[in-house]
Amino acid sequence: MKVLVIGGGAREHALCRSLSLDPDVTALHCAPGNAGIAEVARLHPVDALDGAAVAGLARSLEVGLVVVGPEAPLVAGVADAVREAGIPCFGPSGEAARLEGSKAFAKDVMAAAGVPTARSYVCSTEDQVSSALDAFGAPYVVKDDGLAAGKGVVVTDDLAAARAHAAGCERVVIEEFLDGPEVSLFAITDGTSVVPLQPAQDFKRALDGDEGPNTGGMGAYSPLPWADPKLVDEVLTTVLQPTVDELRRRGTPFSGLLYAGLAITSRGVRVIEFNARFGDPETQVVLARLQTPLAGILLAAAEGRLSDLEPLRWSEDAAVTVVVASHNYPDTPRTGDPIEGLDEVAREDGPHAYVLHAGTKRDGDAVVSAGGRVLSVTATGTDLAAARDRAYTAIERIRLDGAQHRTDIAAKAATSV
Ligand code: AMP
Ligand code: GLY
Repeated sequence: MKVLVIGGGAREHALCRSLSLDPDVTALHCAPGNAGIAEVARLHPVDALDGAAVAGLARSLEVGLVVVGPEAPLVAGVADAVREAGIPCFGPSGEAARLEGSKAFAKDVMAAAGVPTARSYVCSTEDQVSSALDAFGAPYVVKDDGLAAGKGVVVTDDLAAARAHAAGCERVVIEEFLDGPEVSLFAITDGTSVVPLQPAQDFKRALDGDEGPNTGGMGAYSPLPWADPKLVDEVLTTVLQPTVDELRRRGTPFSGLLYAGLAITSRGVRVIEFNARFGDPETQVVLARLQTPLAGILLAAAEGRLSDLEPLRWSEDAAVTVVVASHNYPDTPRTGDPIEGLDEVAREDGPHAYVLHAGTKRDGDAVVSAGGRVLSVTATGTDLAAARDRAYTAIERIRLDGAQHRTDIAAKAATSV
């Protein structure tokens, strides 16, 4: 099977790495890709938001499957354009991707499906914002209704900061603060059947100890030794299946990857958010542990045959990924800095630790930074402590001026058993 992956972050590098290891994949293409993906896939320039361009590329490459990685093309209807061209596509329609594209829409679906989530108000005037903030009290949770690349949410005790964030957005969702550890659970669905993957935990804040601003994600690990073994089944029954059923009932079935961001509160599991695609950096650790070849799973979802799929096989190993971000991330990141030491990691640490590229590009013989999150150093081991050691050993070999990474990814979980 020939496969085309749309996107160019560490998530797409992880997807391409897994697809390149799948014996059923005879040719792998990625658009636009990055410097690391170029080592496993043929890159093509494309405007990922242009459905006709993506469908045209897929047709000219004669691929049998298109996988759309990021949310923006999904919300823009790129998967619809590919399917209309008669090519199987992994990724929801623009209508179904509103589950991520509009927080207010997601709340409406959850209410209709009886899915547990934070109580909330949708506000578009200053008065509505004031009463909602008063109703819930601190800590305040203010979310931009639209897509904001993981940066639209402000959680703060500072009323003025909460108001200021709301004032900068057209429409916001203000909601009750959820206390408790967070879990990311991904599920593959064809619009009817739902196959959950293994849970992971993401580290959203920029600095050690969960300090600093929210980011797209600074690291992740899987499995979660501290979590209730029944968690996945419970979330399947109370969150994932009802959501998929509700979207089908509305005539806009969700086919692709449904990502539930969950808080495990003292009153039970609550949905913090839905995303309509694989999460980054959690995908890096989830796919590191998945043993079933990936292309067959994604194609089964795209073709509506998930119920025929054999149960997924998982490695007993643990996986940890640590994001290396550029100077000044998540504010305006500095780019164009050379990255050194990548060969050393491949030579000294592979295959148990490896670098997945995010914002990188080639500049002559050099690989240079080209975005906020630059690399995702991923490692596996017999337990989280071993995987963590390998990831941090590999990170020490990488030289990128002004780079930052968290030093506490999976640290607490590694000592929890
Ligand atoms: P989201 O983009 O909705 O995932 O929000 C980003 C991050 O903000 C989440 O991962 C949480 O850490 C935090 N957050 C969002 N909603 C809430 C909430 N209701 N209570 C507490 N923290 C939240
Ligand atoms: N890891 C957070 C996200 O992918 O949105």
